[in-house]
Amino acid sequence: MDKYLLGIETSCDDTSVALVNEAGDIKQHVKVSQDHLLNQYGGVYPEFASRAHVASIIPVIDKVLTQSQVDIEQDIVGIAVTRGPGLVGSLMIGTTTANTLGVLWNKPVYGVNHLKGHLKSAELEGAQIDYPAIVLLVSGGHTFICYIDEADNITMVGQTRDDSLGEAYDKLGRMLGLPFPAGPKIDQLALQGTPNIPFPRPLINKGHDFSFSGLKSAVSRYIDGAESYDAADICASFVASVLDILDNKLNSALTAYPAAQSLVIVGGVAASQQVRELGAQMADQYQVTLKLPPLRWATDNGAMIALAGWDYHRNAIHTKAIPKARIPIDEY
Ligand code: KG4
Ligand code: ZN
Repeated sequence: MDKYLLGIETSCDDTSVALVNEAGDIKQHVKVSQDHLLNQYGGVYPEFASRAHVASIIPVIDKVLTQSQVDIEQDIVGIAVTRGPGLVGSLMIGTTTANTLGVLWNKPVYGVNHLKGHLKSAELEGAQIDYPAIVLLVSGGHTFICYIDEADNITMVGQTRDDSLGEAYDKLGRMLGLPFPAGPKIDQLALQGTPNIPFPRPLINKGHDFSFSGLKSAVSRYIDGAESYDAADICASFVASVLDILDNKLNSALTAYPAAQSLVIVGGVAASQQVRELGAQMADQYQVTLKLPPLRWATDNGAMIALAGWDYHRNAIHTKAIPKARIPIDEY
């Protein structure tokens, strides 16, 4: 009989709960998204996000348990819940629920680092990352490249000095009046447009760090100054700039760490078809294996938290499920 961890993710705007076995197979997953609510504000509004989690967390867990028909006593070995980084009010709903269930069910509760969850998303549904690895994490809250060796030592290679890449997508979306989160829509428009606007490529050929605020400002100036514009061309030009930046930074990281066996791209922006194709080209060029999360597990979800939780369970890492706004990737 398979054993499962119940994974709970409430770090930002989605309430997502999953049952996952140690191999990364998903028994059940339910997600309630707050996109409809966030559209009214053009982004995540922390107080409303946490109230929405309050309303959805119990029904979502209930649905996962009912639909999967697991025997809680026999089949669930513990609960993994995001403890951060994220919005403290939102994290509070997930961690309080997890801690309560832990007491009720007499099961261990693991407070999981959301960033380790994203890393594990590339191993959901049976894949395995070969280490050492170069990891590019691009989400709404984070943008960095790190190097992880076989012994799990993590070296930060480069990170954003200002906005995250997901934030840049979402801010462009707001300028163009697109629904939140804007990433998927921008990708789609970019495919229809021509990259004919020379937006800047900040920090290109200048070390491993990223900067996206200059790109965002350049797009904003372009839109403000134009009598009329083609949204598809703006998206295509923005994505071309993003891809050049990622290409440049991944090139320098893979050159600086020739022992890397694989290239891992995770985080919400790893759902971008263009970014996935760039990853495939880079992996080919550097003769490393490419690991991407299956599309549906690129953005925030409880399944990746459950799979990360298995590492905590196996290694008896008993991190408390207490919300923390900031946690680096090398901390459990
Ligand atoms: O990892 P994630 O779900 O949440 C955080 O941990 O921040 O990432 C969300 C971000 C949003 O900024 C969203 O616009 C972006 O991921 N995103 C995408 C795509 N799908 C989501 N960006 C580009 N292309 C996509 N298809
Ligand atoms: Zn995330």
